[in-house]
Amino acid sequence: MAKDTVDYILERRSVRNLSGEPVKEEDIQKILSVACSAPTGRNLQKLRYYYTSNPSIIKECGLDIFKAISPMMPHLEKRREALGITEPIFYDGSFVIVIASLPAEEEGFEKIDTGIAAGMIMTAAQSLGYRTVPLGIICYADEKIHEHFKIPADMKIQLGVTIGTGAMEDPAKPTSLPMDELCTLVE
Ligand SMILES: Cc1cc2nc3c(=O)[nH]c(=O)nc-3n(C[C@H](O)[C@H](O)[C@H](O)COP(=O)(O)O)c2cc1C
Repeated sequence: MAKDTVDYILERRSVRNLSGEPVKEEDIQKILSVACSAPTGRNLQKLRYYYTSNPSIIKECGLDIFKAISPMMPHLEKRREALGITEPIFYDGSFVIVIASLPAEEEGFEKIDTGIAAGMIMTAAQSLGYRTVPLGIICYADEKIHEHFKIPADMKIQLGVTIGTGAMEDPAKPTSLPMDELCTLVE
């Protein structure tokens, strides 16, 4: 039976070992078109998507961030060793999107817009057969992201998403709170 969108949403996991196999150009364009169609608060459209499928940029940027933050996050080196991946930032993904917001005098809906767009990006990628990880960690080394992704200095790095073909079985869903604790019926 054909899967529907809900199946893809429920099946999505953060898969931290990607194969490096290229994401098809047509799929890159589909995923970007989904990002660009995401709703934004007051339709202000403050987000911009910087993306690459260049393996050198991904590897060099990932290693650079890893080196910069591993002293304060020792679990990263353990994760890299355990998974046998090149770097534990982009997880050997082959298509990386960085969501950045335009300069703003005060914070508006950019973070909420980012979350919605990232969710849509991950759902689209999952439905096309890819695996993803949302990447808040890149904000701890945002100067490296500005440099490698050539993002203007006055833009704020909000989140990354790494995308690729899974090189491992999808991990089990981490323990989440029961639905009746998370959801409240109001009558
Ligand atoms: C805003 C946000 C930022 C995240 N940043 C990272 C990250 O930098 N690196 C990482 O490995 N996982 C990151 N994650 C993934 C979460 O750890 C993961 O979604 C959570 O453990 C639930 O697992 P699941 O994605 O498999 O359902 C992030 C998730 C969110 C929503």
